[in-house]
Amino acid sequence: MVTSGFLHSELGRRLAPRWLKSAIKSAIPYAEFRSEQALRDAEKLLGGPISPQSDYASPYPFSIGIITDTSYYFAHHVRACREMRVAYRLVDLSVDNWVELVRESGCCAFLVSPSTLLSILRHMFDERLRVLAENMNYPLYPSYSELWLWESKRRMRDWLVAHDVPHPRTDVFYDREEALAFVDAADYPLVCKTDTSAAANGVFVLRDRRAARRMAREAFGRGILPRQWDHRDRQRGNILFQAFVPHDHEWRIVRIGDDYLCRRKARVGDFASGSGGIEWAKPTEEMLSFVEEVTDRGSFTSMGVDFFVVSPGGPREMFLVNELQCLVGEIVNEQNRNEHTGKWRRDNGNWTFEPGFFYQNACANLRVAFALGELARNQSSNTTQNGEEVGE
Ligand SMILES: Nc1ncnc2c1ncn2[C@@H]1O[C@H](COP(=O)(O)OP(=O)(O)O)[C@@H](O)[C@H]1O
Ligand SMILES: [Mg+2]
Repeated sequence: MVTSGFLHSELGRRLAPRWLKSAIKSAIPYAEFRSEQALRDAEKLLGGPISPQSDYASPYPFSIGIITDTSYYFAHHVRACREMRVAYRLVDLSVDNWVELVRESGCCAFLVSPSTLLSILRHMFDERLRVLAENMNYPLYPSYSELWLWESKRRMRDWLVAHDVPHPRTDVFYDREEALAFVDAADYPLVCKTDTSAAANGVFVLRDRRAARRMAREAFGRGILPRQWDHRDRQRGNILFQAFVPHDHEWRIVRIGDDYLCRRKARVGDFASGSGGIEWAKPTEEMLSFVEEVTDRGSFTSMGVDFFVVSPGGPREMFLVNELQCLVGEIVNEQNRNEHTGKWRRDNGNWTFEPGFFYQNACANLRVAFALGELARNQSSNTTQNGEEVGE
């Protein structure tokens, strides 16, 4: 696309005024624009075009499928497989004959990152992944139940309520009048979030009742458009409100298998979404045990838990889960390390720390290592039980 090509170019970036860039973004299909941008970034990281399958000998007896997505998040899985010499093959779930492609791939498990730039693609992933996991019995990494929660604040909220996990009070409405009645009785500030968003693009801090009423009318009218979002994808017919939780930091502990990695995001303005400072930090044992318990409740083995600490250090200290993300973003500057760079594990009941950098490719290397271990265990138990192999 000529326009987006210009905007992506160095010259375009420098010359186009901000108002022109945002006017063009609201006129063009933004999902495609972002996708092109993501492809460029992925190819830069990989040092060239993304190879559709591994072109090296692998010491492992498995070939793993990598499901492609329009945000090119899957490039992390490709890099991890290449670095670890794991045989892989790319599979596109969006095509008509996807079942055939899956069968022909010869892969025994799949690394997955659903497309979220456009809601229709997200629905496609939800539908086809379920068939892949539950009807065709392939192991998915992250698992189907982990992926189900990804990038959906409504699903996360219901999961947290259903599993009695402490979180900021969240109310979801599908009825305009019910939403307006809630708004009239609410305390302010109040937070409103679209179901999908990232980098706080769909998070709005509402200072008073007027702002909240406007938001509710918009949600049940033409729909709420997150900032930096595709104009075809207004989020309509539903609204999510959340109690405002004052905080200076948001903690993120990522669990992959039995490894826990801890980072802390500092608030800039209203949001601690990572655009400000984000650094390695030392979690308390209570935090690690909390994340272990939350993830155990869902049998999650690939999950980032974002949480706020209420009354930090005090006798009434409390952790409130803000987000559950089975796929996390990469660390842009890997050299930005400190004495807390490393991973935690529970060892004979005690939390122990191993220094080192284990966050490669947005934790994809840890995920692939976990998948290899699980596949090897499954294969040996299947072989001993009935001589069959995993997968179809
Ligand atoms: N209930 C809340 N109260 C106060 N600030 C919040 C609340 N929820 C989110 N925020 C702020 O907004 C940021 C982005 O919100 P989040 O729910 O994490 O959405 P995103 O998916 O965009 O990361 C958070 O990092 C946090 O700083
Ligand atoms: Mg967040």
